Amino acid sequence: MDAIDTLAQGAYRDDNGKPVVLKCVREAERRIAGNMNMEYLPTNGLKDFIQHSIKLAYGEDSEHVKNGSIAAVQSLSGTGSCRLLAEFQRRFMPGCKVYISIPTWSNHHNIWRDAGCEQDTYRYYKESTRGLDFEGLIEDIEKAPNGSMFLMHACAHNPTGVDPTAEQWAAISKAMKTKGHFAFFDMAYQGFASGDCVRDAQAVRIFVEDGHKIALAQSFAKNMGLYGQRIGTVSVMCADQAEAVRVESQLKVIARAMYSNPPNHGALLAATVLGDEALKAQWYVEVKEMADRIINMRTLLRKHLEESGSTLPWQHVTDQIGMFCYSGMTGEQVDRLRLEHHIYMTRNGRISMAGVTSGNVERLAKAIHEVTK
Ligand SMILES: Cc1ncc(COP(=O)(O)O)c(C=O)c1O
Repeated sequence: MDAIDTLAQGAYRDDNGKPVVLKCVREAERRIAGNMNMEYLPTNGLKDFIQHSIKLAYGEDSEHVKNGSIAAVQSLSGTGSCRLLAEFQRRFMPGCKVYISIPTWSNHHNIWRDAGCEQDTYRYYKESTRGLDFEGLIEDIEKAPNGSMFLMHACAHNPTGVDPTAEQWAAISKAMKTKGHFAFFDMAYQGFASGDCVRDAQAVRIFVEDGHKIALAQSFAKNMGLYGQRIGTVSVMCADQAEAVRVESQLKVIARAMYSNPPNHGALLAATVLGDEALKAQWYVEVKEMADRIINMRTLLRKHLEESGSTLPWQHVTDQIGMFCYSGMTGEQVDRLRLEHHIYMTRNGRISMAGVTSGNVERLAKAIHEVTK
């Protein structure tokens, strides 16, 4: 643990603490190398990539993908997808507030603020159980004015690592439906949470199954390791194909003024991986390897914490899912980790499990025990 941001940054590392380029991506890169020109993509991006991307999210056999009723454009990864959608909300849903979970990925607040949308919050995390505040969440859905926008993390909630169960998602969907709310899912970690892309998309699919017309941000930063390539998709489910054409055209108008067109290289990489059965199968294996390494590190961290003599409860370390562990440490305890142990993380006690390795997990556990006992 010598890098200053080791446990702060949300980027996957291997068990030696090194950045990873997936083998399937290296192979896609090899196939593309020397064969592509450097022309602009259209404003809405690479068609093949978008089709693969929405199939991955909504399902290979999704009738909505098949009948063309999903408006979708390639975007600048998860952040750019949120930004486009926030702008779309400001233009076409005037007076509609966006409800954001407490806590959330801090950039959500920046994005909707800069888009000029009014924000409110909903309860999500329960300090006492370090789990979901399910009752608070449902109450806040019921209290919000009909037709509000709810921003939800599809899986691996950042920063808490706390996700609703399938049954809870079904109840959330029902409560949202009763109120006529609009669900916007930010899916930055499909496959990266459980290792299974279908399971990680369950919230999205439950809502779609219930007849919600959702919007969705997809990112290929974490699950395909394309961080700096800025590859993602934003999609909006519409009533029919004609409406999808109109919505897509408006998304293009917004994108045109913001950045003209999205990057070509990373979109070709993702389309090559997702469009080739063998490479796609390899990707599934590699995304699961990343998820499994993180799950293993959670088990080891909890084990070492318990063996260190700590009498505090640490079950939440293994209950939570995804890149982050919301440890429950206070800002002062995080300061002591930094000053006394040279271990660095965000002051809300969030540990990036991606930076935890079999080489540093024991030292981390002992240091956490020191500052929390
Ligand atoms: C919930 C959530 N949304 C979006 C993002 C954006 O990631 P990117 O823009 O790199 O795809 C992140 C990354 O940390 C995230 O955690």
